[in-house]
Amino acid sequence: MINSNKNYLITGCSSGIGKALTLSLLNSGSNVFGISRDNLKVQEIIEEYPDNFFFKSVDLGAPLDLGNAVEEFVAKYGKFNGMVYCAGKEETLPLSMYTPAKLAELFNINFNSLFEIFRLVSRKKSCEDMSSFVFLSSVMGELGQAGKTGYCATKAAILGLVKAAALEFSSRKIRVNAISPGIVDTPMAQQLFTLIDDSNKQAIIDMHPLGIGKTEDIVPLITFLLSDDSRWITGQNIKIDGGYSVK
Ligand SMILES: NC(=O)c1ccc[n+]([C@@H]2O[C@H](COP(=O)([O-])OP(=O)(O)OC[C@H]3O[C@@H](n4cnc5c(N)ncnc54)[C@H](OP(=O)(O)O)[C@@H]3O)[C@@H](O)[C@H]2O)c1
Repeated sequence: MINSNKNYLITGCSSGIGKALTLSLLNSGSNVFGISRDNLKVQEIIEEYPDNFFFKSVDLGAPLDLGNAVEEFVAKYGKFNGMVYCAGKEETLPLSMYTPAKLAELFNINFNSLFEIFRLVSRKKSCEDMSSFVFLSSVMGELGQAGKTGYCATKAAILGLVKAAALEFSSRKIRVNAISPGIVDTPMAQQLFTLIDDSNKQAIIDMHPLGIGKTEDIVPLITFLLSDDSRWITGQNIKIDGGYSVK
């Protein structure tokens, strides 16, 4: 399973799963177009991989204008071999507290920007045939939880997109898949745990028969889906959740 000398766009490159994936791909010799908001959080990656890490600070919660940046990357490194959308915002909020603006921002980060970057990167002039697209959904894309109406809706939207896009791009042998993690120990999960008491935290941990995950549990599945080893897998939602969803 080799992803060296390939070109990937990774959102959420500054933290958690996206950062671990970015470092893994750079380490194996690929070029990465990384997107997140805060330059400072990726300074070490910029310094360690000055020739292979192409970073743009972008707020995915607002309308995007990334066409020129995608063309700039392609001119410098060649066409993309894939994209992984790891950016995401967790929201725990009763339905009654949502405003249209709050919902729009959540959808922008978790779904609309994914759709727009996918549209830009997947164009024939921007990406190779046989490329692979992997989008981070969540077990919450299929399961429900009180207080998670907005988050669940954004993650379910990804699953619909994946199935239709897999069919649309099959003639170019481009594959489109989602992965759906359970709780993974990242800043997102740590933030969630600060909002609840210890007994609720333990209850969430106990819902994962194999315990909660680490980024290094998730990255190998993504790199497999990016590689040609997974060339017959498309349109799928692969759960990676330590057994959470089979209970
Ligand atoms: N961790 C879990 O338990 C878990 C479980 C299921 C699914 N997931 C999904 O897995 C993905 C990765 O999660 P994670 O746990 O690695 O999260 P994380 O550590 O919180 O990282 C989130 C990433 O998204 C970026 N981001 C957030 N809002 C953004 C915005 N407005 N504009 C640009 N970038 C933005 C952040 O960058 P900056 O803040 O630097 O801009 C950061 O790089 C997410 O889609 C999440 O929903 C996570």
